[in-house]
Amino acid sequence: MRKKRWVAVLAAGMLLLSGCGRVVNQPVKSVKIGISVYDQYDTFVAQMMTAFNLYATKKQEMTGITINVEIYNAAGSQSTQNEQVESMIEEGCNVICVNLVDRTDPSTIIDTAEKNNVPVIFFNRELVEEDLKRWDKLYYVGAEAFESGIMEGELAAAAFAEETGFDRNRDGIFQYIVLEGEVGHQDSIVRTEYSVNTIIQQGVPVEKLGYAIANWNRAQAQTKMNQLLEEHGDRIELVLANNDDMALGAIDALKAKSIPRKDWPAVVGIDGTDVGLEAVRSGELIGTVYNDKEGQAAAMLELAYTLSTNGDMKTVDMLDGNTIRLPYIKVSARDAKEFTPPGAAGY
Ligand code: BGC
Repeated sequence: MRKKRWVAVLAAGMLLLSGCGRVVNQPVKSVKIGISVYDQYDTFVAQMMTAFNLYATKKQEMTGITINVEIYNAAGSQSTQNEQVESMIEEGCNVICVNLVDRTDPSTIIDTAEKNNVPVIFFNRELVEEDLKRWDKLYYVGAEAFESGIMEGELAAAAFAEETGFDRNRDGIFQYIVLEGEVGHQDSIVRTEYSVNTIIQQGVPVEKLGYAIANWNRAQAQTKMNQLLEEHGDRIELVLANNDDMALGAIDALKAKSIPRKDWPAVVGIDGTDVGLEAVRSGELIGTVYNDKEGQAAAMLELAYTLSTNGDMKTVDMLDGNTIRLPYIKVSARDAKEFTPPGAAGY
């Protein structure tokens, strides 16, 4: 352990000598950004990382400063992620971006970062406010979960009002099931609550038939949807999925059971991933809510770049000096054909 720390100190010293960003007045020639994701196979996170890499390359071309990006997969283990953060710091990363495995357990990472004075940008999996406030070099980049729930609810309520075919038993009530993301993830809890409440507020009575946890995952959602279909059959008129991958898992189950399209329930997702948007365009999903992965990736890169080059933090637009949230966008089947993701300003 002691030896490792010496390596870290030496690495920082060399960075100083070669002017790599820790000292004011030294021209910065290169920066190193370390990233750890909770699961590299998560569709949304993977697409966000693709955008991040692309913008880092563009930023390098625009500024002439070398930007090294290293992405590690924590593969669902918080202790693996803690170790990854420690070694990224030892390797001399100027800033670390963390997509927490367990959003309630950032303590080890915060302690390690603070001890070594390396800023941390948490993203997508939101830590609680008290943790974010533990040190003044901790940041969060994400979105406001409740917004996406409201938009998903609006999409469902509109489908019920416009397309009477979804009220198959004609009782004037939308019978629904929910496919939920991971237990404890801010987006699972909040999206479910707000989408259901919004449907009710829009004047559509609802009845919950059941729910299942499918951990954001398409294959798990297909299995769970199969079980829910066995149990409730064609009484299911609406599938509220906490993300597009699970909405698509529900569609996979409907297809695998050879249920004719005209008898499908309304299925709605959140994210607007490439496959999700495609499914809205083809009419398989009644809509989705765009989770601005490009905006989040660009905001994270700008913040990481500013921190690592000792740039002017006043140029970074943040809430409470530590949080950046990008807005969601509602995408109905009608909007989907013309919808183009907002992209990231400046890239
Ligand atoms: C996304 C999900 C993703 C999850 C991972 C959510 O914001 O909507 O698709 O699986 O983040 O943390």
